[in-house]
Amino acid sequence: MRQYILKDFPLDNDSLKLGETIFHNANGYLGVRGNFEEGYPEGYDSIRGTYINGFYDYASMPQAEKLYGLIEEKQTMLNVADTQGIALSVDGETFSLFEGTVLERERLLDMDKGFTLRRILWRSPSGKTVRVSVKRMASFYLLPLFLVEYRVEAVDFSGEVKLISGHKGDVRNYFDPKDPRVAGESFQHLFVQSVKEQDGISMITSTTSKSGLTVVSAVANRLVTGKGQAASERSFSETEAWETFTFPMEAGDSAVLYKYTVLCDSIRAKDTEAEAESLMGQALSMNVEELYRHQEEYLQKFWQDCAVEVQGDADLNEAICYNLYQLVQSAGKDAHCNIAAKGLSGEGYEGHYFWDTEMYLQPFYILNAREISRNLIRNRYSILEHAKENARLLGHKKGAAFPWRTIMGKECSGYFPSGSAQYHISGDIAYCVTAYYLATKDLDLLEECGAEILIETARLWIDMGNYYKGKFQINAVTGPDEYTCLVNNNYYTNALAQHNLRWAVKAVELLKEAGREKELCAKTGITPEELAEFNRAADAMYLPYDEELGINPQDDSFLQKAVWDVAAIKEEEKPLLLHYHPMYLYRYQVCKQADTVLAHFILEDAQDLETIRRSFAYYEKVTTHDSSLSTCIYSIVASRLGEVEKAYEYFGESAKLDLFNTHKNTKDGIHTANMGGTYMAIVYGFGGLRIKERGICLNPVIPKQWQGYKFRFLYEDASLEVIVDREVCRISLLKGSSKELLVYGETYTVEPEKQLEIEVKWN
Ligand code: BGC
Repeated sequence: MRQYILKDFPLDNDSLKLGETIFHNANGYLGVRGNFEEGYPEGYDSIRGTYINGFYDYASMPQAEKLYGLIEEKQTMLNVADTQGIALSVDGETFSLFEGTVLERERLLDMDKGFTLRRILWRSPSGKTVRVSVKRMASFYLLPLFLVEYRVEAVDFSGEVKLISGHKGDVRNYFDPKDPRVAGESFQHLFVQSVKEQDGISMITSTTSKSGLTVVSAVANRLVTGKGQAASERSFSETEAWETFTFPMEAGDSAVLYKYTVLCDSIRAKDTEAEAESLMGQALSMNVEELYRHQEEYLQKFWQDCAVEVQGDADLNEAICYNLYQLVQSAGKDAHCNIAAKGLSGEGYEGHYFWDTEMYLQPFYILNAREISRNLIRNRYSILEHAKENARLLGHKKGAAFPWRTIMGKECSGYFPSGSAQYHISGDIAYCVTAYYLATKDLDLLEECGAEILIETARLWIDMGNYYKGKFQINAVTGPDEYTCLVNNNYYTNALAQHNLRWAVKAVELLKEAGREKELCAKTGITPEELAEFNRAADAMYLPYDEELGINPQDDSFLQKAVWDVAAIKEEEKPLLLHYHPMYLYRYQVCKQADTVLAHFILEDAQDLETIRRSFAYYEKVTTHDSSLSTCIYSIVASRLGEVEKAYEYFGESAKLDLFNTHKNTKDGIHTANMGGTYMAIVYGFGGLRIKERGICLNPVIPKQWQGYKFRFLYEDASLEVIVDREVCRISLLKGSSKELLVYGETYTVEPEKQLEIEVKWN
């Protein structure tokens, strides 16, 4: 049973906000934070939010110095109508966890069935006891639907009960002027245009202040009482709608309010009101049990497809399941959206999409959920024209520079040294196209959009780089490590650019071989001369190497700087970005996150294992892991180096990050990239899976704390299962044709109904 249960959850303000994130409900289209329906008392500052993936407004981002090309307008994911509100009154006394006596309380997330539950046994100040249980679900079956089942049981009293279901259009986003990771100011983005009632459904239509988008929220309430008849009454204001139910209850009676919310936006629908109405009709036509059954079936398939399981280590297992569950909650399910850094769980990073998608999350979908993976690639393709414009703004005559952070395609990064300068995002997107291709051999997607992405990003490198002493150099960029900015020849970026250039050529060749290159050539105007230029630059790519240390320096100047003693950093100084001026950080050898070590994972064949070993040891000493994108990568590379204990430690840090709030900012939302990283640390780390041009490679190791682990993955037409215990690694073909694979460097063939058994190397 995959459940996360929090008994006696604390009621202080920080814990409440944390709980809102941890128990949020999302399905990739919409997300609702786990706020209490009845709210908190005055003085508590909740982040009460409902979000739609890809739904945004523009907000101005004035720059103090008006330098050419600096970005002055960003997009921000909007908090849309609040339909969470349900107030309960028990014989005139208002239900609140902050008054009367809370006799029992717990919160639960059921990851098999896809709902959250809040269970309370409450005694009112005058001594009347009710049991309240609230089940909430963001439907995977009907993506626009959010359902609340609010159950009240009169334990020891008879009297009048009132339920007021609210629907509020006047909402704003959360802000905190002191934290650079959330919006700094409050601004009204959403304006209510109409509040209506139609056939028992309240509908609020709102438009955004600048982006010209519309959102409709529709709410329908269905009350089921025991013996007593309910009277219902509606009321409206210019921005809100309420429905009040009043009914008698006797001790032992129960009543349930089913509250349906349907959201509909103008990015996806032409006539939003008509569409919302029709979607609500669809939701109401199904019985609730049917909706719950669909939810469970969807998740059954999800868990079955990836089949990640760890034996031993119960606590860690809970955290692993939690993280995997967020992968299905967060991923956009259509090409209109992507995956925000915080999924749909909060407003941190304003709902922006980063390289997190390609390097930390796509590895999961490529292996387990190809439809999602394709949509994510298509979403990037849909902003290719913006990426070209962005390249021009940055001064490049050709190519596409994908925005560092964005929703609809335009750059949103206000601080370019650790934003737009992270050119590697274009290489990351290209890398992901090739990773998808290598795992699927899907020429269709390559033809549809993948090859064009590869060509336009390759063009960018050619335009950016220059030859110096016969080597192709890429100057003035920022690599993944945001504590080292605007450097020459960042190893990660150069290695990725080399890969990008080579694959642009290969993609054209692949399509040519299949006689499917014509459209691509016509669209991009790619010529044999330009392809030869790609190859020439790739061959001459400068990859920094330090002879004395036998490592790859992070960039040309990294090793010249003073070393920051990371081991001596005090708790109260973490993360460094909140305590030191960027300029100060830039002067030191100190890394926020894996940079060269990440290159050693994704492009491991670019260096021999001993160089990787020395690099790992070197960077480990100067990395703070202030970014949540770091420990998972260190875990993967430690596994590759056979340092299993170390890999396990890093893995634990990654797995527990949000449930244990170790970065102290989970209140602003989950860290989705890290969650993908937890998955990668099992499959690519302990399992040692790589999918290369030569095919599948595996190098399984097992931490001593585990009795075993398993996972499944898709490769070409096949589905494979890997089960590792302390002695043996068993590989089976669950479907598809036989596959050759390399295990610990030796070739095997896995065939239908013939399990491979290979002795596990302990290292
Ligand atoms: C990291 C970036 C990441 C961003 C969003 C930052 O703290 O340094 O690498 O893309 O968070 O997750």
